[in-house]
Parts: sequence; structure tokens; C-alpha cells
Amino acid sequence: MKVTVVGAGNVGATCADVLAYREVVNEVVLVDIKEGLAEGKALDIWEKSPINLYDTRTVGSTNDYSKTAGSSVVVITSGIPRKPGMSRDDLISTNAGIVKTVTENVVSHSPDAIIIVVSNPLDVMTYQAHLTAGHDRTRVMGMAGILDTARYRSFLAEALNVSPKDIQAVLMGGHGDTMVPLPRYTTVAGIPVTELIDEEQLNAIIERTKKGGGELVQLMGTSAWYAPGSAAAQMVESIVRDQRRIFPVCVELQGEYGIDNTYLGAPVVLGKNGIEKIIELDLTDQEKALLEVSRGHVKDVMSVLDNMG
Ligand code: NAI
Ligand code: 2OP
Repeated sequence: MKVTVVGAGNVGATCADVLAYREVVNEVVLVDIKEGLAEGKALDIWEKSPINLYDTRTVGSTNDYSKTAGSSVVVITSGIPRKPGMSRDDLISTNAGIVKTVTENVVSHSPDAIIIVVSNPLDVMTYQAHLTAGHDRTRVMGMAGILDTARYRSFLAEALNVSPKDIQAVLMGGHGDTMVPLPRYTTVAGIPVTELIDEEQLNAIIERTKKGGGELVQLMGTSAWYAPGSAAAQMVESIVRDQRRIFPVCVELQGEYGIDNTYLGAPVVLGKNGIEKIIELDLTDQEKALLEVSRGHVKDVMSVLDNMG
């Protein structure tokens, strides 16, 4: 089985590396527009195989999509990352053009591939890929929720001084400051988190999670890659191994949560057909209000894309 990762930059190369060392598929094809970059990173990952003990082949390509033909899943990470002072939405015009061209190339060589978008602004770039690919909503999705919940879970693990492995959580909404963490659905080894941490500390962690991307941009001068690349690889794994894991994923809502025609994060079951099921939680009025704010924000940016033609 073959998986393609487009964009051999920080996030794409990390995703390809995780897919290889976890032996998720037989072959990972890395594509970039920059001459030699994908070939170099694919070769470097392959040269690591005797050390980390895996046999997944990694192949690089400078914009030659014939090498991607027949991919089961394609991860799109191509685009410019955030710099200090930029919001994710500032990236829209540049990255929309890139995502459109890349999606056209992907679909012409792998018409049956499930597409996972990572490029920002995430929810709207997923919408762009959907418009270009014309696939139904089960086969075009975006990665953000796994990353955002991972940040939230890691901060909680630190505050409680417990293993991050024992923290389960879900969040909803767009990938941005309007994301909606759901403490009601956060547990630590089955114990509701609210029994282990006071409200003030929990709220501080929620606020830090909402700004988690910006925190790293401030520290590094560019956006994160280890957690984002691993998160995208985890989605690929659930699909190609038909694990049916439940993750928050950016998906087109068509009536769920009373929301129509909007790409937004929601919990889904991920399996061999892509999005196998969208899980509808029974939200409180307060949670619904937060989700509505997030929906409004994403819809505004989707309209910017629509108006760009
Ligand atoms: P990067 O700059 O390290 O890598 C991007 C790569 O895309 C570059 O190597 C560039 O040459 C390539 N590229 C540009 N145009 C291309 C085209 N037409 N075809 C093929 N390749 C092309 O950036 P990084 O850090 O890997 O981030 C990638 C994207 O992912 C950014 O838009 C960033 O904002 C987004 N991101 C999204 C996250 C999420 O949670 N959804 C998390 C982290 C980053
Ligand atoms: C992140 O959340 C910037 O979307 C990117 O790290």
C-alpha cells in the first residue's frame, strides 16, 4: 500500500518519517516543488531504516506526480507556514492556490485516494481541496483536532503530573482561537478531569490550548511540526489499517449539530472508507454557543475563499 505526502517541509517530512518507522504502509512518496528537497528527505529517512529497523520504502519526487499514482491516502502539507504576527487566516490566498494545484495533480493520478489536508487555514483549505477534488465528504478531511487535543492532553498531564497516555479528550470547532475544548468529555483514566483539577487551572489550560499554535510560532519563528506531522500520520494509520479510531477531524457538517455546509472539527470514526461516521454529542447550550462562534468564524473565511473565485 502506498501513501503520498505532498510538501516535504517540516510537517510533511515528519509525517513521512512517522509513517515509515511505524511501518504503516509499504511505500511513502514525498513530493515537493523545491528541486531535490523531497528526494533528499526521502533518502535520509530510508538511510535511517537500518538504525530504527523498518522496511517501508520512502521515495522522493520534485513535482512528478506519476510516482504518486495509486496512492490510498494523500496528505497535503504544502503551503507557507505561519510567521510571528500572522494568523492562520492570513495564509489564505497563497495556500489556496497551492492546495488547488496540488489537489488537481493528486486526483489525476490517484482518483480513489482519501485526502487529508494539513495546510492552513486548515478548515478552509480542506474546503478548497473538497471543491477541487469533487469527492464526497467522507474522503476529504482536515487534520487539526488530534493536534489541538494532544496539546490540551499534554498540558493536563503536566499539571496533574500523570502520564499523557491516560488522558482522553475531545474538542470541536475550527482550528484557531475559537476552537471548543470540552472539559465535560475529558477524563483521566476514566475519572472526570473536573474531579482532579480546579476550575481556574483547567480554564488556564484551555486558554493555553487555544493559543497553542501561536505559542510555538513565537518561540521558533515558524509553526510546529513534530506534533502536527505525527497527528496526520495517526489519521493515515487509522484509515489504512481500518482501525476505526475516534478522533476530532475537520469534516463537512451537513446538518449535524444543526450546522450546514461548513468544514468544522467534530468527532468521527476513521476507517478504510475515510470518515465512517460523525458522532453527534449532546452539547449544552453554552457549548453550542461556543461552537456557533467558531462556525461563524470559519464560514467567514470560507466566504473569503468563495469571493476569490
Ligand atoms: P514548510 O515551509 O516547512 O513546508 C512546506 C513545503 O511545501 C515547502 O517545502 C514548500 O516547498 C512546499 N510547497 C510549496 N508549494 C508547493 C507546491 N505547489 N507543491 C508541492 N510542494 C509545495 O511548512 P510546514 O511547517 O511544513 O507547514 C506546512 C503547512 O501546514 C503550513 O500551511 C502550516 O501553516 C500548516 N500547519 C498546519 C497545522 C494543522 O494543525 N493543520 C499544524 C502545523 C502546520
Ligand atoms: C499549529 O497549530 C500553526 O496550525 C499550526 O501549530
